Amino acid sequence: MSDFIQELKNDHRVIQQVVAGMSAVAELLDSGKQVDPSVLADLVQFLRVFADQCHHEKEEQHLFPLLATKANVSTRRELESLEREHRSAKKLVGQLAKVAAVYVHNPAAVRYRIIDLLQQLAELYPAHIWKEDFLLFPLAQQTLSTTEQQGLQEKFEDVEREVGEDVHAGFEMLAKKLETVVEFRNSGACPLCSSAA
Ligand SMILES: [Fe+2]
Ligand SMILES: [Fe+2]
Repeated sequence: MSDFIQELKNDHRVIQQVVAGMSAVAELLDSGKQVDPSVLADLVQFLRVFADQCHHEKEEQHLFPLLATKANVSTRRELESLEREHRSAKKLVGQLAKVAAVYVHNPAAVRYRIIDLLQQLAELYPAHIWKEDFLLFPLAQQTLSTTEQQGLQEKFEDVEREVGEDVHAGFEMLAKKLETVVEFRNSGACPLCSSAA
């Protein structure tokens, strides 16, 4: 497997960890618990920087345009559909950021809206990632020349440099931290729940 595909797949695994965390946070809120507002702020930051600014940029600015130059009509349609899903995710994250800010001082007012937004995001990502992992990336591997694949890897390195290695590593740690919510969601010992829960 090409390095650039492995890198996108690694990003997907981190996003999937966070998506599992989002579902667990939604379940906690739905069961009447309160989560520490910092968890929502971390989720928003992850979705904005890691998922959108870093991962979606690798796809939208570099991989998709290159593939589009070689694609047939159905692949072009698929690329447009994937871009639409990126835009939908971005819009949901923008809404989540607004209600997460309200949650800090008035959790009851926005609890159901937050649950709804987290669930929508948690539904959007798995199908999106599946299409890329199992349909688009194999096509890219087949279609792109070795030189084009190396070129993509270099572009991805530029994107990572812009975001910063430390920032990237920090988000991987956040994804692991969110796993603890998944682990503890059914117990009374969620380490990310606020003391008011
Ligand atoms: Fe994508
Ligand atoms: Fe992706």
